[in-house]
Amino acid sequence: MSCSIAVIPAAGLGTRMRPLTYYVAKELLPIGARPALDYIMQELAECEIRDAVLVSSVTKKPYFELYAKECLQTYGITCHITLQENPMGLGHAVLCAKDIVGNSQFVVALPDDILVKENATMALIEAAKEVGGSAILSQRVDWADVEKYGIIKTEDENSLLVDSFVEKPPRDKAPTNLAIIGRYCFSPLLWAKLDAGLEKKLATSDPKELDLTIPMNALINEGHNIKACEFNGIRHDTGKMAGYIHAFCELAKKN
Ligand code: G1P
Repeated sequence: MSCSIAVIPAAGLGTRMRPLTYYVAKELLPIGARPALDYIMQELAECEIRDAVLVSSVTKKPYFELYAKECLQTYGITCHITLQENPMGLGHAVLCAKDIVGNSQFVVALPDDILVKENATMALIEAAKEVGGSAILSQRVDWADVEKYGIIKTEDENSLLVDSFVEKPPRDKAPTNLAIIGRYCFSPLLWAKLDAGLEKKLATSDPKELDLTIPMNALINEGHNIKACEFNGIRHDTGKMAGYIHAFCELAKKN
């Protein structure tokens, strides 16, 4: 079960990063001397990922086309750019890459999360192999922040096999403070669950976003193994201005 392709959802408007994002795609803002996406591509290249699907909006596509040329030369990764024309949540963004990824194991990397000190993607690919299923990256967060994340309930306290997920629960409904952070390694079985989730959403005019936790729960209910791997490196959340500036200062010293 090899894994050589990644999906990078990058269609967001970057409203929290205005005014910078009026002029450049958030994912290409500089962090030190490099565009933010370079950090993800380097992480992926170290795992021998050779193809990346950038899920873009119409306006950001020209920036990613320019980036794709550099990316192939520097990291040996071919970028495929596909459009998410009508944003309906993270699960929907990933589903836009289905035809390009096809029937293979694949990584999802959320570009806001820049992870250093440990190659998280490499650990996830190994973990998914080990359980013959999928794997997600996790980190303990402050209880006050559980409502910002997908939260993980494991089978028991000592297990890292996931029992279920709950997306952005209020603090009093969160089963744990173990949060999903921005890397996943999925079996292609996810596609059918995403298709079903979208179909249901459209049929019922459900205004809620199609999250990734919905199809992941559906997989677990059918006996699919999903392992949670705890991340012990450093995570920079560059989707907000304060996190972006902090990441810039820290990583500029090193690059
Ligand atoms: C998304 C996911 C959530 C996950 C988070 C990690 O939320 O839906 O489950 O915990 O990414 O950053 P978003 O940050 O896009 O709202």
